[in-house]
Amino acid sequence: MADLYQYRTETELEEPLDCLYILQCSGSNPVNGLEFSTKDKRCLNQKAKALAPKGEEGELISGECPLSLAHRLTFVGVGEEEELTHAKLRTALRGVMRQATKNREYQIGLAIPVRVHGLTDGESRLFALREASIADYTFDVFKSKKNEFDKIDGLHIIPLAKETEEELEERLNSVRLLRTSVQLTRDLANRPGNDLTPEALASATKEMAEGVNGLRITILGIKELQKEKMGGVLGVAQGSAEEPRVIVIEHRPKKPKKSVVLVGKGVTFDSGGISLKPPKDMGDMKADMAGAATVIGIMRAVAELELPLKVVGLVPAAENMPSGTAIKPGDILTMASGKTVEVDNTDAEGRLLLADALHYADRFNPDIVLDFATLTGACVVALGHEAAGVMGNDDELVNTLREIGENVGERAWPLPLYDEYFSYLKSEWADMKNVGGRWGGVVTAGSFLKQFLPEKVSWAHLDIAGVAYNDKEHNGYPRGASGFGVVLTVAFLQQLLK
Ligand code: BES
Ligand code: MN
Ligand code: ZN
Repeated sequence: MADLYQYRTETELEEPLDCLYILQCSGSNPVNGLEFSTKDKRCLNQKAKALAPKGEEGELISGECPLSLAHRLTFVGVGEEEELTHAKLRTALRGVMRQATKNREYQIGLAIPVRVHGLTDGESRLFALREASIADYTFDVFKSKKNEFDKIDGLHIIPLAKETEEELEERLNSVRLLRTSVQLTRDLANRPGNDLTPEALASATKEMAEGVNGLRITILGIKELQKEKMGGVLGVAQGSAEEPRVIVIEHRPKKPKKSVVLVGKGVTFDSGGISLKPPKDMGDMKADMAGAATVIGIMRAVAELELPLKVVGLVPAAENMPSGTAIKPGDILTMASGKTVEVDNTDAEGRLLLADALHYADRFNPDIVLDFATLTGACVVALGHEAAGVMGNDDELVNTLREIGENVGERAWPLPLYDEYFSYLKSEWADMKNVGGRWGGVVTAGSFLKQFLPEKVSWAHLDIAGVAYNDKEHNGYPRGASGFGVVLTVAFLQQLLK
């Protein structure tokens, strides 16, 4: 991804920028609100008059730049001010990167004097900078011919008129930190199953921890999992040639204000097992460890920010495969908590892994547990790709996540966990089944997880099946992993400290 700089008219750029991009709402003066010298402003205004951009959504209008600061100038329309959403702004920024790549512009300037409707100036600014910094993301590790966006070297942010140099620098620093974590989350989730096995996920986590301060990593292998009697994790993994792991990531500052455990579903490939999935789009199930990737990304940010919270990340990782050794419908597993589960469908594997990890969370005495999982297709049916489903045992926690999500542009919509849903999981032979039949698939999954929680804990479950991964570009997100949940959770943890 491009390096991120603060652009000042006084900066000693050796060469003018290849292009200066200016975002514009419908009918607004695109040059107002930006920090340029009076002379430059006059020039830009003249140019704007000549090119006459309207600011309509999707509009890109370019011309020669009359200034010494850039060779070219492009106005980028984002539509009506009152209708500017996170998704529209993200899409516009991705469009800038695409255009810059096409035109072989290596050093570009970016001016974003527009605000997401409903946000404060500061909130919107942070969102815009964050998205701009990652808008040229692409996953091309496995491509011999590197594609698309790797042409852009430098992204130079034009300060707003009301923004001091210190303010912008502070914002850019927070953006640099977060984008590295989001990038890590996306990269992990995009890696294919043969490359990112449970063991490789554990190695990648160790490698991440070496790059930051104060994270302790413990990997539970088969022996430890047997000792912990993690029948869920072992059961899911038993059909695969790849051994399961449970990855424990600990951030333990002195005198922490609270204790939080984050659990992430780490199914490195989900074939469905003996209840095999249909072949169409099965390859996308390489990203069934997106929840794990989210937790690993969050832990990286938590360490970098040195948050005075005890935060423990738990990642149960396994591959779900059909084979002669795989679990079968009808099998009964004894979970780490001692409860028994009749496996009615081997494709409902995520909850089996998560159940053991939620039980394991107890030993860290958490006040709050959050889990992230690409858990159900039913969640995608309900909410599409516009929001995660969020449910739990504490309405205030669920609502807080919803509010923060709307603010940072990672939405989570509340769903109920009525006691009645547990009756859908009734089993003739065991304490419960792992599936609840046709109806209410999101909430029966949530209700299953609820049976394995530590006592007296505030818990929220985020079903990210619809938002963690896009099978085509959507809302300005690239094809593949979005990194959903990192920014939301870091904001949530920071709010806990207020
Ligand atoms: N990993 C899938 C859920 C999923 C579906 C994630 C689509 C992303 C996109 C999960 O393990 C699964 O297969 N769930 C089943 C549950 C069912 C058997 C009760 C499903 O949703 O079909
Ligand atoms: Mn499955
Ligand atoms: Zn799955």
